[in-house]
Amino acid sequence: MFSNEPVVRVKDACIFQETNTILSDLNFEIEKGEFVFLIGRTGSGKSSLLKTLYADLPLRMGHIDIAGITIENIKNSEIPFLRRKLGIVFQDFQLFTDRSVAENLLFVLKATGWKDSGKMKNRLSEVLMRVGLGAIGNKMPHQLSGGEQQRVVVARALLNEPVLLLADEPTGNLDPEVAEGIFKLFQEINKSGTTVLMATHNHNFLKHHHQYRVLKCEKTKLIDSKETPIDINSVY
Ligand SMILES: Nc1ncnc2c1ncn2[C@@H]1O[C@H](COP(=O)(O)OP(=O)(O)O)[C@@H](O)[C@H]1O
Ligand SMILES: [Mg+2]
Repeated sequence: MFSNEPVVRVKDACIFQETNTILSDLNFEIEKGEFVFLIGRTGSGKSSLLKTLYADLPLRMGHIDIAGITIENIKNSEIPFLRRKLGIVFQDFQLFTDRSVAENLLFVLKATGWKDSGKMKNRLSEVLMRVGLGAIGNKMPHQLSGGEQQRVVVARALLNEPVLLLADEPTGNLDPEVAEGIFKLFQEINKSGTTVLMATHNHNFLKHHHQYRVLKCEKTKLIDSKETPIDINSVY
């Protein structure tokens, strides 16, 4: 992949859930290093769009490339290769509750082909440092606050140095101040070069960060702030 290629390229795509059209005529690109908000009412298709990008919802119409990988007709055997280029963060923390933080992270490293235990240990401390957590590897998830658990999830998403971080309402279950901290973390990750696409309902993020591009799902269309001004006050 050439470094000036867009990280996300969507051409004439339609997204369906069963027989319902959720989003149609999707045409957009996301360049390397962009930070993009994905907004829209509940049920407008944010999660469906993100699921399509990480190949959880098959693309039935149109073309999508993610980090140089073509999503339409992607084979099941190629999906792990795609997922390794992505970091994915959901609203619910989805840590294994019966394993320590370190075991949660090691599980992902092993599942994605890491073998050398020294290197794995180093990577583990690197990502935990990166999200502002020090030596918590031996803790169990329930010993951490919600914000700390979500930081571990972000650390897990960073393990394989993703080119694109997809986040689906990552602060939806957090108190406002804690949510702000997680948002700042995403900003820092973005500043260091990772492209971020974040679905959010958090009005404050949008209000205070006009510099970022906004994609809005509305009545089966995707409105792009690059082309059409978006009134964020009318979203919710
Ligand atoms: N697994 C599914 N099967 C059928 N319909 C679904 C499924 N997931 C979502 N939908 C429908 O697709 C539409 C978009 O949902 P979703 O993408 O979750 O929106 P958002 O994330 O913006 O709330 C909704 O009408 C929802 O009911
Ligand atoms: Mg959703």
